[in-house]
Amino acid sequence: MSVTIALAKGRLADKSIELLEQAGLQLDFLKVQSRKLIFEDSSGKLRFIFVKPFDVPTYVEHGVADIGICGKDTILESESNIYELMDLGFGKCKLVIAGKAGTDFLGRNNLRVATKFVGCAKKYFAEKQQNIEIIKLSGSVELAPIIGLADVILDIVESGKTLAENNLVILDEVAVVSARLVVNKVSLKTKKEAIAPLLQSVKAVTEGK
Ligand code: PRP
Repeated sequence: MSVTIALAKGRLADKSIELLEQAGLQLDFLKVQSRKLIFEDSSGKLRFIFVKPFDVPTYVEHGVADIGICGKDTILESESNIYELMDLGFGKCKLVIAGKAGTDFLGRNNLRVATKFVGCAKKYFAEKQQNIEIIKLSGSVELAPIIGLADVILDIVESGKTLAENNLVILDEVAVVSARLVVNKVSLKTKKEAIAPLLQSVKAVTEGK
């Protein structure tokens, strides 16, 4: 029985690997300089795939990965049908509404919101019964209010540096984000023997921190 783990490329990758090593996995085979996207250990029992952060819940939902590590932001955005089993305690940041200081955005008609998180933005403003225009961007979202493309953004803030250096401020907090361990619902039953001990060890490491 082999277990496939999907890891988010980028900010969370190194810490995810570190955590799994602390949980007892031998992961030297992941540390070669390579552009490979799929890695298998020598026993053939453990496989890793490296995917875009937004895609981790999708791979896990479809069962091509049994386990995934990704940010709560991507889980909120994907609304995938997966189990979110653990808060891993790293990758802490926030999803926020940001804009120029003093931007009066609540209740404003046809507010233009630039974001990568289209689902989260729709949900946030639907709850406030506010009609908005979504402007979907794939990065450098902070540029939008500065250059006049949008009134506000919904984006991730980690250190706050990007906002500060672009003269933007947090106008509201939408969600607190950290890395989560997610599992495919079927795998949790059918691969219980292989998955349960791993989950136990990860839990022990996370709780010990
Ligand atoms: C994220 C996010 C912000 C930035 C926040 O972007 O979208 O732009 O990090 O980090 P900070 O608060 O520490 O400055 P990322 O670097 O992932 O790149 P992107 O602009 O391509 O989305």
